[in-house]
Amino acid sequence: MKTNLIVAPWEEIDCDILILPVFEEEDLDSDLATALNEKLDGLLEELLSSQEWKGENDSIVVLHRPDKVSARRLLLAGCGKKEHFDASVARKVTTAAVRKVRSSSLKKVVFYCRDDISLEDVAQAAVEGINLAAFEGDSYKTKDRKTFYIEEVSVGTSQPADQKRLEQILRRGLILTEATNLAREITNQPGNRVGPRDMVDRAKKVAQAEGLDIEVLEEKDLEELGMNALLAVGQGSHLPPRLIILTHKGAESEAPLLALVGKGVTFDSGGLSLKPPSSMEEMKSDKAGACVVLAAMQAIARLNVKSTVVGVLPCVENLPGGRAQRPGDVIQSFSGKTIEVLNTDAEGRLILADALSYCVRNLKARHIVDIATLTGACLVALGHVRAGLFSNDHSLSRHLIEASRTAGEPVWEMPMDRIYREQIESDIADVKNVGGKWAGAITAAKFLEEFVDGIPWCHLDIAGVDLFKEKEEQKGPTGFGVRILAELAERLAAWPED
Ligand code: BES
Ligand code: ZN
Ligand code: ZN
Repeated sequence: MKTNLIVAPWEEIDCDILILPVFEEEDLDSDLATALNEKLDGLLEELLSSQEWKGENDSIVVLHRPDKVSARRLLLAGCGKKEHFDASVARKVTTAAVRKVRSSSLKKVVFYCRDDISLEDVAQAAVEGINLAAFEGDSYKTKDRKTFYIEEVSVGTSQPADQKRLEQILRRGLILTEATNLAREITNQPGNRVGPRDMVDRAKKVAQAEGLDIEVLEEKDLEELGMNALLAVGQGSHLPPRLIILTHKGAESEAPLLALVGKGVTFDSGGLSLKPPSSMEEMKSDKAGACVVLAAMQAIARLNVKSTVVGVLPCVENLPGGRAQRPGDVIQSFSGKTIEVLNTDAEGRLILADALSYCVRNLKARHIVDIATLTGACLVALGHVRAGLFSNDHSLSRHLIEASRTAGEPVWEMPMDRIYREQIESDIADVKNVGGKWAGAITAAKFLEEFVDGIPWCHLDIAGVDLFKEKEEQKGPTGFGVRILAELAERLAAWPED
């Protein structure tokens, strides 16, 4: 995939699709509106004044082979009210526009940044939006696949611009969304196609292509280390668990400035605490966290982040086979702490517990961020809009919130009062893996906090945002978190030690 900045008037840009942003209540005397009306023989004015089309958010008018314009298709992209226009709107609008006209002949797509919107602010987001539209989740269809290839994503402008700098910004957009699409593609793989060992193969491919170090701990290694929480979850499946460790060495220091941990449950049946069928349907995507971390590592390598960053992927399948763990079992985790497993469906926190301890004890990580489709309770709290953010460190969570704003992947910080810890106190062991009916997303986070030994840490619960079931333009896995994690890695690398 290529990207570049095209400095030319919009009507002269030669491409398959030219996306032109138009605002609601567009001033018909503006430069763009005047030029558009002239090239399109008054069409814009006609559309807007007849109220046939108002330029509302995500609404699109497609014009094929317009006479006096070089582009083969002109997309008038409704951007809503001008005062609400920002990078997030640009990202969404471009995705919606390209989704509307996807076909195999869309090799070259251009977003035109009109003179009254800031090139610096929206150029990257426009490239991101276009590239996000290129993901298609129908790879197992034997006919009528919608797959198409965009070869070039560009931004056109007549504004004076520092070409080199802007092309770097555009390249960033491409790197971040190529990674997002990778996370979406792997997350979308069914449980019978991608198990823990296939996650290893996928990770090896990325490591080799990007020059990351990779280490894989197999069952025996996990037994020797005493990663009993990870092993316990895998017991009920024929597919043995794996712990994958990817390292990007962007600085001298051995100890990672940042460790990223992703929940990689390749299928979550609930185990003996079996899920009802309707909740089990989408549990192939319970590995979204691991896919997001793998993809973020790809982006971090490509962005050449100047610090050591490690990605840790505990991968396992949660099935109720004959050797499966039972509700009531007590296991000793890698940290030494004992856990009473009252519900085998609360498996994510078990595998993360061992992975987090590994970051603290073996890697000596200075900051840790985990990402996981952890609780239905987070979905109840925040819906499909924001991910839950939980942290033990104000400074790290501020960095993460900033990264989330830039990335256009919204999060909401949840409370972590000590009193919630009481809900996971066990009668028989150090902790239990369920915290009762209320505040389930928080008690899950309090459980994880037990395993980070006070190291600055953030937890992202993406159970509500990893998947869109309804939205036609973005159906399927979202890859939520890839851009946050890559942004955060860059920010931390640039931040003087505090
Ligand atoms: N993978 C699920 C969480 C989930 C639910 C993700 C819905 C995406 C959509 C997780 O392993 C789970 O089952 N959590 C339980 C925890 C409970 C038993 C304490 C839940 O949320 O019901
Ligand atoms: Zn579960
Ligand atoms: Zn799960």
